[in-house]
Amino acid sequence: MKHLLTLRETSEADMRYLLDTATAFREILSRPVKKVPTLRGRAMITCFYENSTRTRTSFEMAAKIMSAEAINIAVAQSSVAKGESLKDTMLTLQALKADCIIIRHPASGAAQFAAEHLGIPIVNAGDGRHEHPTQGLLDMLTIRQEKNEIEGLTVAIVGDIMHSRVARSNIWGLTKLGATVRLIGPRTLLPHDAEQLPVQIFDDLRAGLDGADVVNVLRLQTERMEKGLLPSLREYSRLFGVTAGSLKAAKPDVLVLHPGPMNRGVEISADVADGKGGIRSAIETQVSNGVAVRMAVLYLLMSAQGASAHEL
Ligand code: CP
Repeated sequence: MKHLLTLRETSEADMRYLLDTATAFREILSRPVKKVPTLRGRAMITCFYENSTRTRTSFEMAAKIMSAEAINIAVAQSSVAKGESLKDTMLTLQALKADCIIIRHPASGAAQFAAEHLGIPIVNAGDGRHEHPTQGLLDMLTIRQEKNEIEGLTVAIVGDIMHSRVARSNIWGLTKLGATVRLIGPRTLLPHDAEQLPVQIFDDLRAGLDGADVVNVLRLQTERMEKGLLPSLREYSRLFGVTAGSLKAAKPDVLVLHPGPMNRGVEISADVADGKGGIRSAIETQVSNGVAVRMAVLYLLMSAQGASAHEL
């Protein structure tokens, strides 16, 4: 693996390696002193053309825990604001001797474009509506941690599938590891190629949740949405909002995920988000696992090949 651009193109073996490595790294996060020398002398640069709390911060933490330099480009204050192109920006960061670039961009394919023009590892931290592979991996790590195995599970992804790069990474990652994936949402919020994806499709929430082991609730991405896709937020919430009541259709021990940020009271009720009343919400575990997964990704792409994570 030279880059991490999509889970569609990542082999099952590489995904299992990353998940096993992240599992080993979780122990480092529970140490009083969270520091290992593994990536000393290496430099990671994050370049986010869209806002982020979880992804950018966890990449920075992952690099620092592994003793790498972590540099963030504040895109709005950078020469991008003077019109510098994506290609020239990437070439500049490479010339500054970055060992790895983490990029988030509103255009699908931006990370692939960067990878084609650079000789250093590129990690896609979300490109348009396309993929968000490290989110897919941390979701899988959380499911494996909570349910022991992914193979044989039914995972329901609910909500704004059309605009979700998280959904696509989940679909490719989970199906490669043997899960059945259902997409649940209004037809207007399904991607145009939904019928070609390896999924089952439902436009009724309770039917889609019937017997599900895991429900991954997606944010309504109103910032990417054209007008007319939804009658109203109230109507959407009534039909597709995940609540304690709608979860009764799923298995009693259903695991609830959400990639964040959440619109509480729209796609997910506050009691479900907070795991009240015996509901198994793993939303905070997902965030913690994001650091371990990004450590594993940086380790794989930036360290000398062949070392074992278990030696750290
Ligand atoms: N899940 C996710 O990508 O969150 P951020 O936008 O906060 O990084």
